[in-house]
Amino acid sequence: MNNNVVNTGVNGLDRVLYGGIPRGNTVIVEGFPGTGKTLLGMQFLYQGAVQHDEPGIYITFEEFPDQIYKDMKAFGWDIRKLEEENKLRVITLSPEVLMDQMMKPDGLFEHLIHEIGCKRIVVDSISLFQYSYASIEEQRKVIYSFRNTLRKYQLTSILLKEMTSVEEENVSFINYLVDGVITLTLKPYSKNYRKRTLEVTKMRGSRIQEGEHLYRITDEGIYLIPALSMVEDEVITAPVDTVPTAIPAMDRILGGGIHDGATFTIDTNSKSNYRYIVTAIKSGRIKAGQKLLIFLSSLTTISELESNFKKYDLDLAQIVKEGNITFVEHYRRNVPKEYKDAIINVSDLDNEQYRRVMNEQIFSMIEQGVANGEKWFVYYDLNTIASQRGSEFVKLYFGVEVAKISSLGVSTLVFTNFKELGEETSGFVERSSNGVIRTWVDGNYQFLQITKTPNGTISEPLLVEKIDEKPFIRLV
Ligand SMILES: Nc1ncnc2c1ncn2[C@@H]1O[C@H](COP(=O)(O)OP(=O)(O)O)[C@@H](O)[C@H]1O
Ligand SMILES: [Mg+2]
Repeated sequence: MNNNVVNTGVNGLDRVLYGGIPRGNTVIVEGFPGTGKTLLGMQFLYQGAVQHDEPGIYITFEEFPDQIYKDMKAFGWDIRKLEEENKLRVITLSPEVLMDQMMKPDGLFEHLIHEIGCKRIVVDSISLFQYSYASIEEQRKVIYSFRNTLRKYQLTSILLKEMTSVEEENVSFINYLVDGVITLTLKPYSKNYRKRTLEVTKMRGSRIQEGEHLYRITDEGIYLIPALSMVEDEVITAPVDTVPTAIPAMDRILGGGIHDGATFTIDTNSKSNYRYIVTAIKSGRIKAGQKLLIFLSSLTTISELESNFKKYDLDLAQIVKEGNITFVEHYRRNVPKEYKDAIINVSDLDNEQYRRVMNEQIFSMIEQGVANGEKWFVYYDLNTIASQRGSEFVKLYFGVEVAKISSLGVSTLVFTNFKELGEETSGFVERSSNGVIRTWVDGNYQFLQITKTPNGTISEPLLVEKIDEKPFIRLV
């Protein structure tokens, strides 16, 4: 275990914090009454003492210890027993007495810390400081030296803060002073239900998973499920051959890359720069020695592919010469001589004839190749199929076609634009896919999110940065 972070006692929160609170940090947990601050504070100390052998002190200005002992029993936490074992102390006093004892060398505070070897501390709640000290200046001074004392003793501290409907200026000041801020809320949700959310808005020295994470109060205390994390499907995550996409961050999310037999759909619009993403995936396949079937489109032309591949050090003409790429062409366009034999032109075919060519010529070719030990990859331009063959055709045959390809252990990258495809058809395409990659432009930034994967994990929205060297984009 990483000794530089302190587990919070809430597993989901540790995941949001990529391990826990950096050791020695002072963190505010703020929220309206009833959001679960006291519970979170106690859970932090209880689990710290029981699971990590890190003694803690709970300082309360408001409640009597008896109430706390009783409340925590509901979660099966025997606080008194921990006190007897010198792993926990619950003390009730006033802010003035606390400050007095804290500032005094050899005061009660220092005694307590040494007595139990204290590592963690919770203060419930620092909002009380504002009633004990009249002027804002004095409050700030007190809070400042309070924080410094916590640091001096290298305590990892959680300071609970009561939110009121009017956020007072001097109370917010403390958010600047501390190392971390965690906000709990209770929000209305449907008619008789409220949802509890937790958000980490600041944490010095730690990455954080952004967003509002939902939590419940269960018999075992606070249970948080980080946003965008879903149950892993064990069956599909069984080891399979994956091929890297050439984009490291994408491969990490996908557990190595796109596995053979998977259908991945990339949803994009004309504004977003998808060429590099798509070419990176194709080039990964070529470099892995696979054969490609590529659907050309009005935008994806031979010459465009040629220049894109070149950026990834691949010579398209050479690959075609070696018989490793076949194109499906829906347009009547002039192509350089050396590519002629690699192109199956379907521009004159009606849907029925096209289906026959797909079955008898193209699918058979892949099937035979696979039977001979070849590996194949299909780049399927669904925009072209939809515009040339109609969305009815997509609804009728898309699922069938990708399932047939997948049954051969061949993966497909489906290129599409969900918005243009319409809600019904795109929902259907999404369900027929093992993975969905979405990229869009928002303001001056492009984002990419993997919203569906075979292993059930999905990514947060990542920023797409254009870089000068291969693979030309970086996901941040
Ligand atoms: N055993 C329990 N099971 C479920 N919910 C509980 C249990 N005990 C307390 N709660 C709920 O937990 C919350 C307690 O929060 P608390 O930590 O006292 O909040 P705060 O300190 O923010 O005011 C309350 O909303 C209460 O309804
Ligand atoms: Mg409370």
